[in-house]
Formats: sequence, C-alpha cells, structure tokens
Amino acid sequence: MAGFIWILTLLCVAGCHQASASPVLRSPWMVQVGQNVTLTCNLTSSREITWYLFGSDQLLPLLTVQQTKFGQETVNFHSANSSRISTGGNVETGLVSLEILEVEEKDAGLYFCSGRCGGDVCVNRGTLLDVNGKMVIH
Ligand SMILES: *[C@@H]1O[C@H](CO)[C@@H](O)[C@H](O)[C@H]1NC(C)=O
Ligand SMILES: *[C@@H]1O[C@H](CO)[C@@H](O)[C@H](O)[C@H]1NC(C)=O
Ligand SMILES: *[C@@H]1O[C@H](CO)[C@@H](O)[C@H](O)[C@H]1NC(C)=O
Repeated sequence: MAGFIWILTLLCVAGCHQASASPVLRSPWMVQVGQNVTLTCNLTSSREITWYLFGSDQLLPLLTVQQTKFGQETVNFHSANSSRISTGGNVETGLVSLEILEVEEKDAGLYFCSGRCGGDVCVNRGTLLDVNGKMVIH
C-alpha cells in the first residue's frame, strides 16, 4: 500500500478538497467471483471524473467521464480490458458509478475516483474490493 499512499499524497499536494478523502480505509467489501459490482463516485462539483483501480502494485486508470461544454457526456476507457466495466449515472450530479460485470480475482484492489473541484484535484473515499477473500492487508 505504500505506493498508493504516495500517490494520494501527490494528489493532495495538488489540492485535496475533501478533508474526509483519506481512503485508509473502511473494511473491504467482500464479493465472490461472478458477482456484478457497482461502485459510486460522489464528487458533486466535478465536471470530469476518472475512476482508478489500485491493484497489485499498479495504478490503473479505468475510465473518464467528462461533460462537454454542450452538456453532453463522453466516456473514455483507459484500460485495454474494459469489456466488463461500464459507467452509469451523471457527471452533472457528481454521482458517477462504475459497474464491473462478473468480477474476477484480478479485479480486487482499491477503487477510487478523482475529479476537478473548483480547479483543484479532489478524490473520493476509496472502496477496497476483496474478491473471494483473497486480499491480504497488512
Ligand atoms: C450481471 O449483469 C449481467 C448484465 O446485466 C447479467 O446478464 C447477469 O445475469 C448479472 N449477473 C449476476 C450474478 O447478477
Ligand atoms: C454525496 O456527498 C454529499 C456531500 O458530502 C452528501 O450530502 C450526499 O448525500 C452524497 N450523496 C450520495 C448519493 O451519497
Ligand atoms: C487483458 O486480458 C488478457 C487476457 O485475459 C490478459 O492476458 C492481459 O494481461 C490483460 N491486460 C491487462 C492490462 O489487464
């Protein structure tokens, strides 16, 4: 988790809006392989939200939802293997969900979203997803 803390520190140096943003940590959310999982990002003032997964030693941007000037939403997938992930909700309300279909063990990790709130970078509380109880936390 050391790398992860470092990344968040970096984000927070850039401007951490939510004092409660500390992602460390609620109890993991235990799911079983094959379950569908929906996580919700709540960053009310952001017009652009990116979902990240911090998995086995690697930070992966998953997708970015953006609201254009004309009020439309665009979604960019950053991960090559995005066939099982999708997004729902609405950037305008700040509630953007991440849906993972039929989770696999490799999907375990810390999920969090980040956005721009009034020009600063903001992050939400992360959600630690544990698949089949395989995650070991020290
Ligand atoms: C997961 O979602 C897919 C597509 O909506 C559905 O076909 C499938 O039955 C769901 N699986 C579970 C375990 O709910
Ligand atoms: C989103 O966050 C705001 C401010 O923290 C809170 O008032 C609101 O209830 C949250 N909404 C949801 C759906 O969690
Ligand atoms: C994408 O999926 C393939 C096949 O499951 C796997 O070999 C590859 O490592 C995955 N790539 C990433 C970035 O997860």
